[in-house]
Amino acid sequence: MKDSPYLPRLARIEEIRVETVGRRPIKTFRVSLKDGGTFTFAPGQCVMVSVMGVGEAIFAVSSPPKGDGYIEFSVMKLGRVTSALHRAEVGETLGIRGPYGRPFPVEEWRGRDLLIIGGGIGAAPLRSLIGYVLSHREEYGSLTVLYGARSSRDLCYREEMRAWAERNDVSLHLTIDRPEEGWDGLVGMVPDVLREMKPSPENTVAVTCGPPIMIKFVMEALADMGFPPEDIYTTLERRMKCGIGKCGRCNIGPLYVCKDGPVFSYAEILKVSRNAGGGGVL
Ligand SMILES: Cc1cc2nc3c(=O)[nH]c(=O)nc-3n(C[C@H](O)[C@H](O)[C@H](O)COP(=O)(O)OP(=O)(O)OC[C@H]3O[C@@H](n4cnc5c(N)ncnc54)[C@H](O)[C@@H]3O)c2cc1C
Ligand code: FES
Repeated sequence: MKDSPYLPRLARIEEIRVETVGRRPIKTFRVSLKDGGTFTFAPGQCVMVSVMGVGEAIFAVSSPPKGDGYIEFSVMKLGRVTSALHRAEVGETLGIRGPYGRPFPVEEWRGRDLLIIGGGIGAAPLRSLIGYVLSHREEYGSLTVLYGARSSRDLCYREEMRAWAERNDVSLHLTIDRPEEGWDGLVGMVPDVLREMKPSPENTVAVTCGPPIMIKFVMEALADMGFPPEDIYTTLERRMKCGIGKCGRCNIGPLYVCKDGPVFSYAEILKVSRNAGGGGVL
């Protein structure tokens, strides 16, 4: 039982940050492991978080890997577990198991320009990725970030965004769906803004995460602009239970999102979709 993959490690909530306060609010939790050990993960991986007496839910790790005992994850309030997390307070104990899933292939991307495209809570794994790239800045080419939300109130990670905007080695573009008084950023849905930006596919890897419909239109837009499907990546979401490829809950065709993903290239998604007779994967 000691080495059971289902056994969570106990973690203390060290800090809770309110990211957004809309209809589906988002909070970021910073936790430390109570066993004093470290938590090793890579950008794009997830953790199963348990709230005692309530249940478990899976979240992308939203902080970059630092090799210390802290991790952060951001939670949109939706149902039982996420609502319990939103009621939790600093000092409370959670269970953490993982990390799970295939991370972004950051080593393969060395020397490439990166175009990172996020929407809403989809910024969570991208924040981990951007933090990683910034701490290995010399290994990558240009870094362009396009991030959108329904309104300015729904944009996550404002502090980080402000810091990225001030750097001369990050090109940050923020967009909201409709015009707002006082908003001096872009206006329009992420896929439309992306098409207007006309990024060059030359030596560029594009990474996107957000609502499924946004991911679909972003990947189609990138393909139309000449990005090869092998150079477009996303992370997919499916309802999950075990997180380790045992329960069969999270499959898309022959692939398990928890084990084979959540990171997939567009080429992989197109292949699964074609084998399923063109049925939608997103
Ligand atoms: C790989 C992966 C990474 C994820 N990363 C994040 C993250 O970083 N931040 C975050 O806030 N959420 C993330 N999610 C979604 C998160 O796991 C669900 O929101 C959570 O499990 C809901 O639990 P609950 O008990 O609050 O909801 P429940 O009480 O179980 O369900 C409430 C409602 O939400 C719907 N629902 C539950 N889970 C999902 C889901 N995965 N997709 C669509 N609808 C769902 C249910 O059908 C139901 O209508 C991720 C999911 C996956 C698979
Ligand atoms: S969640 Fe059980 S197989 Fe993926």
